[in-house]
Amino acid sequence: MKIKFNRLQWIVHIGSLIPFLILIFDGLTNNLTVNPIQEITQRTGRTAILWLMFSLACTPLNIIFGLKAFNQVRRPLGLYAAFYAALHLLTFLILDYWLDFQLIFRSLREKPFIIVGTLAFLILLALTITSTTRSIKRLGKKWKKLHQLVYAAGVLVIIHYIWVLKADITQPIIYSVVLAFLLIVRVKPVRQWLVSKQPPWGKSLNKFLMGGKPKRKTAVSVKTSQV
Ligand code: HEM
Repeated sequence: MKIKFNRLQWIVHIGSLIPFLILIFDGLTNNLTVNPIQEITQRTGRTAILWLMFSLACTPLNIIFGLKAFNQVRRPLGLYAAFYAALHLLTFLILDYWLDFQLIFRSLREKPFIIVGTLAFLILLALTITSTTRSIKRLGKKWKKLHQLVYAAGVLVIIHYIWVLKADITQPIIYSVVLAFLLIVRVKPVRQWLVSKQPPWGKSLNKFLMGGKPKRKTAVSVKTSQV
């Protein structure tokens, strides 16, 4: 099988695997602090939320700078976010609670932020399952509606994050501001104004990012580009 990626796709795939490789390396070299389970939970959680924001930033980057190349990496970025969220959940279920479901259900009462995290994870799971080209074609207009739930996942994850931290909530506040900005950019009049103000250098940067071995624009990438 021959992989045909453009420059941006290479950056996204290699960049998305780096936190995972660092985690494995730090695990093998005993560099995961005195509380490795908490460290893994925190790292995978933080990576998942950051990658979720990256995937939500793709459409705004296209709107503001005319960087169409980002339409092609929105799906992989979302899938990497779901991958890190799955690692986060598995760490909690297996490493922290040894699949002791009695203890897990008791922890839900003591730590309700876990319920909010679980709801966010279920949305990410549904979006992952329906992210295939076949699902996009099969679900038609419903696909777009379903995938708009990604914003709800973003809000739930931020609530989960604030709830976990309690004290210094600077990070989740920054995420809230970024998420609000990413949503405002999509509002029709704002979007139209921003498109009319796209900088001239956007086209050359887009060409550079699409360089290497560009993927042809498919019917699917056109259909999903406004989510
Ligand atoms: C599937 C259900 C989930 C469970 C059971 C869960 C569980 C947890 C737990 C126990 C912590 C506390 C770690 C600690 O400080 O001791 C935590 C923190 C966190 N989780 Fe989740 N979580 C879930 C879903 C998610 C999802 C979907 C995301 C992101 C997409 C996420 C992002 C975070 C973040 C950013 C933190 C804070 C890390 C820090 O302290 O810096 N979680 N989660």
